[in-house]
Amino acid sequence: MTKYKGATIWFTGLSGSGKTTIAIALESMLVERYNRVYRLDSDNIRLGISKDLGFSERDRRENVRRVGEITKFFSEAGFIVLSSIISPYRAHRNEVRNLHESSNLKFIEVFVDCSLSEAEKRDPKRLYEKARKGEIKHFTGIDDPYEPPEKPDIHLKTDMSTLEEEIAIVIEYFEYHQIICASCLDED
Ligand code: ADX
Repeated sequence: MTKYKGATIWFTGLSGSGKTTIAIALESMLVERYNRVYRLDSDNIRLGISKDLGFSERDRRENVRRVGEITKFFSEAGFIVLSSIISPYRAHRNEVRNLHESSNLKFIEVFVDCSLSEAEKRDPKRLYEKARKGEIKHFTGIDDPYEPPEKPDIHLKTDMSTLEEEIAIVIEYFEYHQIICASCLDED
């Protein structure tokens, strides 16, 4: 039914870096005009399918694995899947990449790069504040690691650019790699 195959767009970055904001903006842009789009993020995942998991390395790995399996199913079905979870460990993200690529599915890692100081300034859920006070343990960036991608497919620097600029970078990538067709977004 679709001219284009699905793809998984995997947004990784610190809490408060802008992963979900970018995914929501892309979703609304894509969904109305053209594509089958499905968006997943940590808030809905951790309330449901991963509600038994915490934030140890082992649990984060399992969380990433589950989300990776879901994104694989949807991309296999021809969807563009927008996934935003911190996924702080390089090895775990690479496992998801391998899962996709071994089935000939596109996996696009988007590094939503934001300095810790900026993410902490934004602190939309006031979690950094709690982590600094020691009320939340093992908080990514504070007392738990975040391993930045070494070679992300797309690198967005959200403390130095606007949302519009970031969306434009992603759309350009999609068009260039034929994930969406260039003219579709221009249609009224
Ligand atoms: S991941 O590491 O397993 O990929 P995930 O993206 O699902 O993390 O969840 C991160 C969200 O859970 C954060 O945006 C924040 O709202 C909340 N959270 C609660 N405790 C922690 C913690 N210790 N570290 C990071 N995020 C936490």
